[in-house]
Amino acid sequence: MPLRNIFYGVFVIIVTAALSEATPGFSSPSDSDSRVAARSDTGANETSDGCGYQVEGVGAFNYHLAFDFTTKDTLPDELIASTYEVGSGPYAPYAHIFNPSNIVLGSGQPMQMIVPGNQTADPLETCQVVTRYDDVLYASVRTVAQASPVNGTVHGFFMYMNDTQETDIEIRTGDPSHVHFTNQQTHPGNGETTYAVAAPSTMASAFHEYRYDWLPSVTNFYIDGVLVMSINRNVPSEAGWLMWNSWSNGYAWTFGPPVQDSILLIRSVEAYFNRTSVDTSDCETNSGTSTEAAVTTAGAHVTTNAAVTGNLSSSSASSTTEIGASQTDDGYGFYWDCT
Ligand SMILES: *[C@@H]1O[C@H](CO)[C@@H](O)[C@H](O)[C@H]1NC(C)=O
Ligand SMILES: *[C@@H]1O[C@H](CO)[C@@H](O)[C@H](O)[C@H]1NC(C)=O
Ligand SMILES: *[C@@H]1O[C@H](CO)[C@@H](O)[C@H](O)[C@H]1NC(C)=O
Ligand SMILES: *[C@@H]1O[C@H](CO)[C@@H](O)[C@H](O)[C@H]1NC(C)=O
Ligand SMILES: *[C@@H]1O[C@H](CO)[C@@H](O)[C@H](O)[C@H]1NC(C)=O
Ligand SMILES: *[C@@H]1O[C@H](CO)[C@@H](O)[C@H](O)[C@H]1NC(C)=O
Repeated sequence: MPLRNIFYGVFVIIVTAALSEATPGFSSPSDSDSRVAARSDTGANETSDGCGYQVEGVGAFNYHLAFDFTTKDTLPDELIASTYEVGSGPYAPYAHIFNPSNIVLGSGQPMQMIVPGNQTADPLETCQVVTRYDDVLYASVRTVAQASPVNGTVHGFFMYMNDTQETDIEIRTGDPSHVHFTNQQTHPGNGETTYAVAAPSTMASAFHEYRYDWLPSVTNFYIDGVLVMSINRNVPSEAGWLMWNSWSNGYAWTFGPPVQDSILLIRSVEAYFNRTSVDTSDCETNSGTSTEAAVTTAGAHVTTNAAVTGNLSSSSASSTTEIGASQTDDGYGFYWDCT
């Protein structure tokens, strides 16, 4: 992918600049922004006792979040609406900007992530939400969503640290037959690991659960609880943010800009993950305490309060073969990533 490589550096600079400009709190420990406090908060008394969640068939995690957006009028504290801009370029006729006003919550409805229709101004209005913290290292993330039926946008449910530490679920609303799964190349020239699988036939008219399990040796992707792809190359190994977005840049990957409002509906998000700032040193002592099996809203079979050192041998992460690829996606090798 020589062309992609050529422009890769430019892209990274744009994104890095955009991220650092928009989210100074993430990189500046002296910043008094509340995001700094959020990042350093281990959350150990909120949703985890620091000893973890044992996710059946996946592994142990020290942190958990679960949001049913139909019960919310504003974004939960742990999520931030992005405000930065991603520049235009040879494969992005339009720049796009993430604007919180394109995220609508309330009235008992799912979260709406809107790319307004008939835009002609540059940058295009789009939207994104990210976790307040960027110290997520391995995760099982489930998003219950209904894609927009309007051509011209990409929905992303993903983990991002930088352009070489990223794993993605992407839905192109102009290609309703496929869902795309990608580990971005950890090193340029490492080989593309991006795959398209058959989408649910009702992807744009009903809610489905899209899930990635990002583990040390593999990322496993599920639709409605069914494993549809495992990618064991280019697995990110650095901590990053969890992100959700909907965007367009007018290029072939996204098509668009959309001529009607393109509305991604996210009903709920449930995620189990390790945060590197969470202290798990006292886990062992709690290994004998009560365990409680639970089936969560997203259907995850989880045991809480289990020792992190519990039963990792049963993890299904040993499944490292690439399966179920209906096609590779080399034809889209030059697209600009949303991030
Ligand atoms: C919970 O965490 C908050 C914020 O870190 C802290 O102010 C509070 O004292 C903690 N509560 C308990 C019971 O540990
Ligand atoms: C999460 O962290 C715990 C404690 O360090 C570790 O035992 C566990 O293997 C990690 N989970 C994954 C999926 O890597
Ligand atoms: C992403 O971060 C990793 C780890 O810090 C680093 O090795 C890599 O060079 C970075 N990639 C880019 C494109 O900046
Ligand atoms: C979306 O638009 C593109 C470009 O106009 C077109 O090639 C594609 O077929 C459209 N998708 C659908 C589902 O109509
Ligand atoms: C965009 O323009 C087209 C053609 O004029 C029109 O049919 C459509 O309703 C417009 N959409 C919006 C969201 O204004
Ligand atoms: C650990 O996993 C093994 C293999 O799946 C299973 O047979 C065993 O019952 C598990 N032990 C516990 C304590 O969950």
